[in-house]
Formats: sequence, structure tokens, C-alpha cells
Amino acid sequence: MDGKFISFEGPDGAGKTSVIRQIQEDLEQQLGKEKVMYIREPGGSRISEEIRQVLFDNKNTDMDPRTEALLFAASRRQLVVSEIVPGLKAGKVILCDRYVDSSIAYQGAGRGLGEQEIWQINQFAINGLMPELTIYLDIESKLGLERIAEHRSDQVNRLDKEKLTFHQTVRQSYLKLYNAHPDRIKLIDASQPLASVIKDVKMTIHDRFSDLF
Ligand SMILES: Nc1ncnc2c1ncn2[C@@H]1O[C@H](COP(=O)(O)OP(=O)(O)OP(=O)(O)O)[C@@H](O)[C@H]1O
Ligand SMILES: [Mg+2]
Repeated sequence: MDGKFISFEGPDGAGKTSVIRQIQEDLEQQLGKEKVMYIREPGGSRISEEIRQVLFDNKNTDMDPRTEALLFAASRRQLVVSEIVPGLKAGKVILCDRYVDSSIAYQGAGRGLGEQEIWQINQFAINGLMPELTIYLDIESKLGLERIAEHRSDQVNRLDKEKLTFHQTVRQSYLKLYNAHPDRIKLIDASQPLASVIKDVKMTIHDRFSDLF
């Protein structure tokens, strides 16, 4: 497959969506709109978006954690088949807003289902398709949550309401993944001003893919 698969990870409020928006715009300038694809996890295809609605619905606070984990994996499976694989075959750069690492950190560690167990159900879902590069936006949990509370109080969803310790557990799991997969995962200090974060992300992408940026 000719394309490039890049995922963006990090705790809530790290700045993933803000960073990707700029990266996407700049890459579209460089390569043309048709060569760049933005994908939001969970979601990104019609069926996956419908699963996302169920996951984030405020009336579903009683959802069983394993149900939640399986729904995330199901959404991801559909995304791989209907969007990512065709995009890579068409030579596109795919910018994925969350992927498997999110499930490991949120469901595996945060909800205590076990990082290894979550990796296994996701292996079944993705059938080996991992990103070549993962940009991990690292931020202290409190700062990430403060950013969300400050800028997006109208959009706080079910998962944002979890307590601070949950987010700290998530961050520790991300850091563990980063230490275990240093070739794939690159850590960026996301507490910097947005422009500096974007600059670091571009340099990191260029280091891996010398024809980008
Ligand atoms: N480097 C930054 N400095 C200050 N504020 C920032 C920075 N990056 C993002 N923000 C602001 O923080 C809020 C959260 O950013 P964003 O939505 O991009 O995070 P996210 O990682 O996508 O979060 P989520 O996981 O909840 O989707 C936004 O209001 C955004 O404007
Ligand atoms: Mg986001």
C-alpha cells in the first residue's frame, strides 16, 4: 500500500483535534485535497459514526465496560475496512484522531479491563493494520481537563465527566505504550502554545516521512 498512516493520541484536551486541523490544511496545500484524509475515532464512516452515537450518548452512563470496549473495537473494524485500507491503497496520507492506543489507555487501563485484553480484541478488529507513526500529545491530566472546561463546557460528553484519577491512569498507560514502542510512538510536549506543538509535530512527521513538510 502506497499511503501513509499516522495516528494522533493523547488524553482529553491534549490538542489532538486542533493540531490535526492545521496539519491537514498544510498537507492539503502541499499534496492536494484528494491525497489527505482525516478520520475521527471512534467514527469516521457511516456505520462507525452510528456506533459513536451510542458510545457518547449521555443516557448510556450505565453501559457495561466490556460492551463499551467491544463497541470501540467494532467501530474501528468498520473504519479500517471502509476507509483506511482503501485510502492507503489510493496513496493517501491518513490522519487518524485516536486509534488502538486510545482503547488500551481508556478501556484497558482507565476502566481496568486489562491492557493486554484490550490489545487482543483490537488485534482481531484491525487484523494487523497499525499506523507507521503515532504522534502522542502528552499533557498533565489537570491541564488537559482545564482546557476542555475552559473552552468547550457546552460540549462536555460522558467520558469527560470521569474523575481526575481516571485521566491520570489513562496518561500513565499512554506513557507505558510510548516506552514500549519508541519506534512507532513519538512524544510531543502538548503543554506548549499550540503553534509550538504544531511545529514539533511537523518536524516529527518530516523525520519519518521526508517528503512531507
Ligand atoms: N497548545 C494549546 N494551548 C492552549 N489551548 C489549547 C492548545 N491545544 C488545544 N487547546 C484548546 O484546548 C481545547 C481542547 O483541544 P482539542 O479539542 O484539540 O483537544 P483534543 O485532544 O482533541 O481533546 P479530546 O480528546 O477531548 O477530543 C480546545 O478548546 C483548544 O482550543
Ligand atoms: Mg478531539
